Amino acid sequence: MTPATTPPGTPASTPAGPPVQPSAPTAAPTTAITNIAALVTNDPSLGDGSPIGLIQDAAVVIGGDRVVWVGESSKAPATDNAVDAGGRAVVPGFVDSHSHLVFAGDRTQEFNARMSGRPYSAGGIRTTVAATRAATDEALSANVARYLAEGLRQGTTTQETKSGYGLTVTDEARSLRVAARHTDEVTYLGAHIVAPELADDPAAYVDLVTGDMLDACAPYARWIDVFCEKGAFDGDQARAILTAGRAKGLQPRVHANQLSYGPGVRLAVEMDAASADHCTHLTDEDVDALANSRTVATLLPGAEFSTRAEWPDARRLLDAGATVALSTDCNPGSSFTSSMAFCIALAVRDMGMTPDEAIWSATAGGAAALRRTDVGRLTRGATADLVVLDAPSHVHLAYRPGVPLTWAVWRAGERLH
Ligand code: NIG
Ligand code: FE
Repeated sequence: MTPATTPPGTPASTPAGPPVQPSAPTAAPTTAITNIAALVTNDPSLGDGSPIGLIQDAAVVIGGDRVVWVGESSKAPATDNAVDAGGRAVVPGFVDSHSHLVFAGDRTQEFNARMSGRPYSAGGIRTTVAATRAATDEALSANVARYLAEGLRQGTTTQETKSGYGLTVTDEARSLRVAARHTDEVTYLGAHIVAPELADDPAAYVDLVTGDMLDACAPYARWIDVFCEKGAFDGDQARAILTAGRAKGLQPRVHANQLSYGPGVRLAVEMDAASADHCTHLTDEDVDALANSRTVATLLPGAEFSTRAEWPDARRLLDAGATVALSTDCNPGSSFTSSMAFCIALAVRDMGMTPDEAIWSATAGGAAALRRTDVGRLTRGATADLVVLDAPSHVHLAYRPGVPLTWAVWRAGERLH
């Protein structure tokens, strides 16, 4: 294939090897990324046969928005263009399956107070609700675009995001309308907390969330979420909210067992939710329920980091057989990070995950939490979303915490600058 000295973007001068199979899903010009020291495919039938399907000395061929070939460099097909990865590692684009990007304002003071010993509570959400209601659609949209771009620069190519800082029919609907301009993975979280003006009448707020607010929000969302926690919504309220959402075509996911033990995880499993998110306080029964379900346990270590809370036990979940995803939870209150690499490093250092497991969870795990099979893996037919790391091994994502390691990002077959 192309020699290691070929500058990025230079067409392959001496095409070699068999042509890309005619059944490839595109006739668009093909680009080979060659000279990849370590390629994480997340296909256990490839490479080392591990869950991350690691291929050494690899190449990836992109045609249109798809991956059309992966394998050892020496066997790569002829392509129209080639990019030399220079002995770097390549991983699938990160799939960040949980964030709260539709917000305005800032909670620096709350963070400062917390770092001086004040505990985190769900009540801080009200500060962001007030700022979000006061913001224009344009300001909210600019904020979403800013944090999506921030994540993309760090390799996040699929981003879920939620409402939940509006808590009126108008403000929830516009939050989702704004979110839907930027991503397809949009979640209605009217049930984040009881709206401040109905604090004395939570039943009336549940009626609103399952009634007029749901009607206004459903057209913009794919998912419905509820914060099932003391100080937010109990198990019965959460079940009613998710059931109403499902009747309108939204699929459930749950903020579960974040601040205390509770019914959230079991409810998520009962409802066949795509994921139970946080999972910090789990009984053995909760772990068993997750392990025997399709519900992914999404762990959000940025939240435990930023609230100085106990870490979720990823090892316990993995050993029980549960599917684990890692995500940022990016929000101005409990986890103001857009860095999947940071979450990987925390999960490896403090939650009992190996680097391979954490990288799988941040890519294929996130895809499973969004019930997607087109992203989170680098195999023939997958969306061509990938990150070239400025490192010879994918393990550097955990080994070099806090260091920007993104050398290049491709999203849907396009190299981003
Ligand atoms: O996932 N848990 C509920 N929601 C967010 C926190 C939101 C906030 O504090 O503003 C979370 O941690
Ligand atoms: Fe969250």
